[in-house]
Amino acid sequence: MILIDRISKAVKIFFLLSALIFTSLFLRANEPDSAYVFAYGEENGGGLYFAWSIDQKEWHTIGNRYPFLKSDYGRWGSQKRMYDPFLYQASDGLWHCIWSLNNEDGAVAHAVSSDLVYWKPQSYPVLMPYGNCLKPEISYDLQRKEYRILWHSDKPDQGVFHSFTADFRHYSPAGRDDRHGSEGKSASMGRKDISLAGKRQAGTLHCVAWPVIEGLINSQRLGAYRQMLNEERVWMDPAHFKDPVTISISPAIQKKKSISDLLIGIFYEDINYAADGGLYAELVQNRGFEYALSDKEGWDKNWNNRTAWSVVNGETFLIDTVSPIHPNNKHYAVLQIEKIGVALVNEGFNGIAVKAGEKYDLSLFARSPGKVRGKILVRLTGKNGEVYGEVTMRTVSAEWKKLEAVITATKTADDARIEVVPQQTGRVDLDMVSLFPQKTFKGRRNGLRADLAQALSDLRPRFMRFPGGCVAHGDGIGNIYRWENTIGPLEARKPQRNLWGYHQSFGLGYFEYFQFCEDIGAEPVPVVTAGVPCQNSAHHGCLIGGQQGGIPMEEMDEYIQSVLNLVEYANGDAKSDWGRKRAEAGHPEPFNLKYIGVGNEDLISDVFVERFTMIYNAVKAKYPEITVIGTAGPFSEGSDYVEGWNLATELGVKLVDEHYYQPPGWYLNNQDYYDRYDRSKAKVYLGEYAAHVPGRHNNLETALCEALHLINIERNGDIVAMTSYAPLLAKEGSTQWNPDLIYFNNTEVKPTVGYYVQKLFGHHSGNEYLPANINRSDNREDIRKRVVSSFVIDAKTNELTIKLVNLLPVPVSSSIDLSDIHIANNQSDLIVMKGSPDDKTVRPKESKLTVSEQFNYELPAYSFSIIRIKM
Ligand code: AHR
Repeated sequence: MILIDRISKAVKIFFLLSALIFTSLFLRANEPDSAYVFAYGEENGGGLYFAWSIDQKEWHTIGNRYPFLKSDYGRWGSQKRMYDPFLYQASDGLWHCIWSLNNEDGAVAHAVSSDLVYWKPQSYPVLMPYGNCLKPEISYDLQRKEYRILWHSDKPDQGVFHSFTADFRHYSPAGRDDRHGSEGKSASMGRKDISLAGKRQAGTLHCVAWPVIEGLINSQRLGAYRQMLNEERVWMDPAHFKDPVTISISPAIQKKKSISDLLIGIFYEDINYAADGGLYAELVQNRGFEYALSDKEGWDKNWNNRTAWSVVNGETFLIDTVSPIHPNNKHYAVLQIEKIGVALVNEGFNGIAVKAGEKYDLSLFARSPGKVRGKILVRLTGKNGEVYGEVTMRTVSAEWKKLEAVITATKTADDARIEVVPQQTGRVDLDMVSLFPQKTFKGRRNGLRADLAQALSDLRPRFMRFPGGCVAHGDGIGNIYRWENTIGPLEARKPQRNLWGYHQSFGLGYFEYFQFCEDIGAEPVPVVTAGVPCQNSAHHGCLIGGQQGGIPMEEMDEYIQSVLNLVEYANGDAKSDWGRKRAEAGHPEPFNLKYIGVGNEDLISDVFVERFTMIYNAVKAKYPEITVIGTAGPFSEGSDYVEGWNLATELGVKLVDEHYYQPPGWYLNNQDYYDRYDRSKAKVYLGEYAAHVPGRHNNLETALCEALHLINIERNGDIVAMTSYAPLLAKEGSTQWNPDLIYFNNTEVKPTVGYYVQKLFGHHSGNEYLPANINRSDNREDIRKRVVSSFVIDAKTNELTIKLVNLLPVPVSSSIDLSDIHIANNQSDLIVMKGSPDDKTVRPKESKLTVSEQFNYELPAYSFSIIRIKM
């Protein structure tokens, strides 16, 4: 069956390729010079489609599998719809497409193309604030010498309205289009109706040169062909690869080239409970009573200021905001105690894990306005009431005061909860109830969970990007991650909704990120928004969703200053305004920041370009020594990728952040992706990538594809400067995104197969790459792309690392010729990961291998091998 599938795939590929080559090289002489093209959208809002006809009677769909243009407006799921697209060709030949977004918003979408295949990034001009824009159309007003945008509206008034634009960037205020009467009923304007595959479709009709139609047809064929390549899996048809394969490899030291020594880093984002309940070692959940219904946009009614809290031996507790410890942290708990014994209880993040004999730092803010004031007993208890440790804190004051103590756990358990039991009657206010293990990573106060942080450190990352990801640019302008809100005393930090559907206390904030980077010897790479929130944002009170028009221009100076302040916070003198805050937090020495990411896979809209340019210029002017990292969209191709790169080239940006999550077939079939890059342009930071398979798990197949990609990247280490797998951390049971590099629960760290690939690259990197000649017993393409190698020298340790990936189901006999290289020790280190492609538990195995000028090594089936040799 697999063989039949494979043959039919091969046949399909053959036909597709032949059709592509045939149509592009041998234009048929009897094709018309021109024909009609019809542009329409399906009712479901899926996108823009085309049909063609010679006589306007017989219509042919041009593939209806892939829309030629899809709406990128707003949220996935509820948005991203294109209603009633209208296509218009301007006198300069450019095609403009305009469409309605939904029934509510007073904006339309616009995109432009020169060939109907490649569309530039979209814009969403607000034409009718507080109205809606339906069935928009474009025409040209000869008198005004401007384009007239026409639309229907049924909210709040019915009618046809217009706005004028010369450039599709600036639009005049909306006016009623009187030509169509106040009801607008006669406004049929430029749309036509045709019958297509037995269905009436409304759209626009255009006469075009035949090659335009041919371009459309070919782009559909190319799309189908690429999808077929992407669907290739490493395990397909083992029978196909049953013959033994032998290769001989000889690296050439004379041809060595310098490569980046920052190649392997980590991408840290607070997704999947990576911060609170994860890397941040705080054991109390919702310690500041700041959880809010809005964190989960109201869908979880149990998620509020009381989440994770309850009361025993009493009725309930109240939440108050009248006189908080700090305005950024408004909510606090109020206990009315009639009889001593009432306890406020926190369940932690699904239980608190404690270890017998270990010490825990306890702190809380308390006050009691009444005359009777007592001490506070705090204890750790199990579900059955068993006490795992307790301590009595000082007497509560009339005003807010921080109380601190240490509890020693008497038992190892993962189900503990913390009980706060005031030893008095009357009113007691409590806030910022906190419990930390003393054994945090490197023993830092307000520190990180030691085992998780160690797992990150063990990767030996050369840099760490933070705090995201989408968390950095936020879900709407109001949700943008503002770094200043995350520093200073914990009770003064300003928590906010996490766009992944929970809460960010910001206990793990910029100071802690910088500190951690320093602790693990990684360059800090903060990413700030480019003045726009995520293009997938909901409205959150704004007139439009998506980028919401960006941070208003009148607020941009303040925002740019905030970015500049960040550099001062990291690098400034301890006497400077922001450097002082760093010093007060315990780090008078600068953090030596060298990179700053501006933007995260944004839509490269005009709104973005304008703001990115302002921020870029400001940082370059004030801190020329800082490398600003630009952004090139969420995919390895497409309009944001192209325009992100164009913008970077235009501005002279030195490093560009690319993101893509691709199936194994993409990695197999795009091994020359970076070989094709122009070396005179910016270098690449591959900031987010992973191999994704159906079911979205991490196994040997995905890990080997990532190893394959990293080997190809090492070869291109002159143009690719940095890489980071994404996402990094995921808490079991609280995961929004799969696969991730490391899963964990409250007591265990569970690295994936992919983690070990990252670790091996982190430990066996270098700064010089040796190109190699490879001869294969069988030079078939599918074999060639499944067996790859790299030779990298670490000049600091004078060691050569050979990396070999074998994605074949059979072993490969290799003969390696090192006659160009001086070998200092014939005993090399050999590390091998191997198994079956769907294996999720593969771990590296270490042994020794005797090497010489010429030696043989057998690459096991489905394996990644590392041979490390002293030179
Ligand atoms: O890595 C998870 C998400 O993927 C990131 O937040 C975002 O940048 C990307 O889309």
